[in-house]
Amino acid sequence: MDVQFNSLKQEKDHIGVIFCDQNCKLIGFGKKLDQLSKKYISRILNTDESFKIRNSKNFDYLIVHQPENLKLSKLYIFKLKKFKEYQIRDFQILGGHIFSLLSFYKENKVILYPDGIISSKISFINSITELLTGFSLASYRFDKYKKKDTERNKKNKNSLKATKFKVSSSSNTRLEKNYINVKAISEGVSLTRNLVTEPPNVMTPPEIAKNATSLEAYGVKVTVLGEKEMTKLGMGSLLSVGRGSEHESKLAIMEWKGHKNKKKKPLAFIGKGVSFDTGGVSLKPSGGMEEMKYDMGGSGVVVGLMKTLAMRKAKVNAIGVVGLVENHIGNMATRPSDVIKSYSGQTIEVLNTDAEGRLVLADALYYTQEQYKPEFMVNLATLTGAIVIALGNEYAGLFSNNDKLSKQLEDAGKIEDEKLWRFPLHENFDKMINSPIADMQNISYGRGAGSITAAQFLQRFVNRVPWAHLDIAGTTWTKQTLPTSPKGATAFGVKLLNRFVNKYYEGK
Ligand code: BES
Ligand code: MN
Ligand code: ZN
Repeated sequence: MDVQFNSLKQEKDHIGVIFCDQNCKLIGFGKKLDQLSKKYISRILNTDESFKIRNSKNFDYLIVHQPENLKLSKLYIFKLKKFKEYQIRDFQILGGHIFSLLSFYKENKVILYPDGIISSKISFINSITELLTGFSLASYRFDKYKKKDTERNKKNKNSLKATKFKVSSSSNTRLEKNYINVKAISEGVSLTRNLVTEPPNVMTPPEIAKNATSLEAYGVKVTVLGEKEMTKLGMGSLLSVGRGSEHESKLAIMEWKGHKNKKKKPLAFIGKGVSFDTGGVSLKPSGGMEEMKYDMGGSGVVVGLMKTLAMRKAKVNAIGVVGLVENHIGNMATRPSDVIKSYSGQTIEVLNTDAEGRLVLADALYYTQEQYKPEFMVNLATLTGAIVIALGNEYAGLFSNNDKLSKQLEDAGKIEDEKLWRFPLHENFDKMINSPIADMQNISYGRGAGSITAAQFLQRFVNRVPWAHLDIAGTTWTKQTLPTSPKGATAFGVKLLNRFVNKYYEGK
């Protein structure tokens, strides 16, 4: 979405978005427009009893048609309650609501007048930047497979033309300068959502790797290992998952060097990229299996995050590593009870081929730590159905060997409303994955604590480096429209980790 930033002014035949407070008092440019219209706007505001008492959660609005004496042809007035206390997330949600409404009414040629929405919690420039972020994220659509010109599709397409959206403010130059951050986040999130939404016959492991490679255009160094290289390295764990698939397994490594000291230890982000999870020989039931196209969500977030960091030239060294495989049935597929050898040298008895994500991450984590000696590792994975039972779609699970890292992640999650809930790790859970014949088995004996034992498995491939595992199985995909995400892929994690990097690691 492209936005034009102008100084404060009206434009002919445009629609203006203005604001009032909870007492229906106009703020910012709305006040000025009211004077120009000889109080026409406030007269309407004050006679509309229903608008005055309407008290829905956050955003009530009123439409004024053909306001007298103005060039603008129509006004949307949003009533903001307690905007002086708005936080980052409130501005994003406001932006999302404004987009949804304008798009619902198929509006075109819109000018937003944000002056006067001043919160005591965050600077004006930053708050409007967040508003525009929410606006832009809500505008995401994926319709490339829809035949373009049928009547039905025309009806479904929103007509809010990207090029026609304008922001008019007395701080326009500073807002425009800051817009690079909006752009970086929305492009990163869009990339993630595209990767996750693409069907699995298109978005195969090599295709995800190709998308990672496309970040070279933004100054990211990308290396892709294929099956030959990984076999030579001894990545028997990751490779065991892809054995039933026709599509070659890949490990893609993305390096961004934005810190002034190019030798500074990188921040490492690792993603599970199972392009489709049939369960393998431990086949999943057919009902709902189609959802397993988003089992590459962790890798999607890592690729999108690297794009965001590179586009806004983040002042950190960061690496993204994604393990890309398809978990398919096939005559070479791994069998339940096979024993494999991981890159770390530890052996694994595969008791259930559907517990494949941990096998992919085991080698990706160990490789990252060996090759890059990172400051810390954060991995993301749609790892367990059990986390959905525990947390639903509201929180992602957090598992970590480090309190400080956990705090920082939780904090960034609260700010962005991509919330994390920390679970325990304990040696008694760890014992549950001991195998009678190998170093470990890939599922626990006994029932219960399925998300924790999965995390314990990962921890066996982490040495002394601070590490956090985010189980995003419940938050990667939404069946409901959210304020800043349409139905489908959410890209949960991109905003969170971008905030986390920016708040705690830039300029240090
Ligand atoms: N990809 C699934 C987990 C998943 C479930 C993601 C629902 C998103 C939504 C994972 O590979 C899996 O199959 N896990 C098994 C583990 C079990 C076999 C120990 C599960 O959760 O049932
Ligand atoms: Mn599985
Ligand atoms: Zn899976």
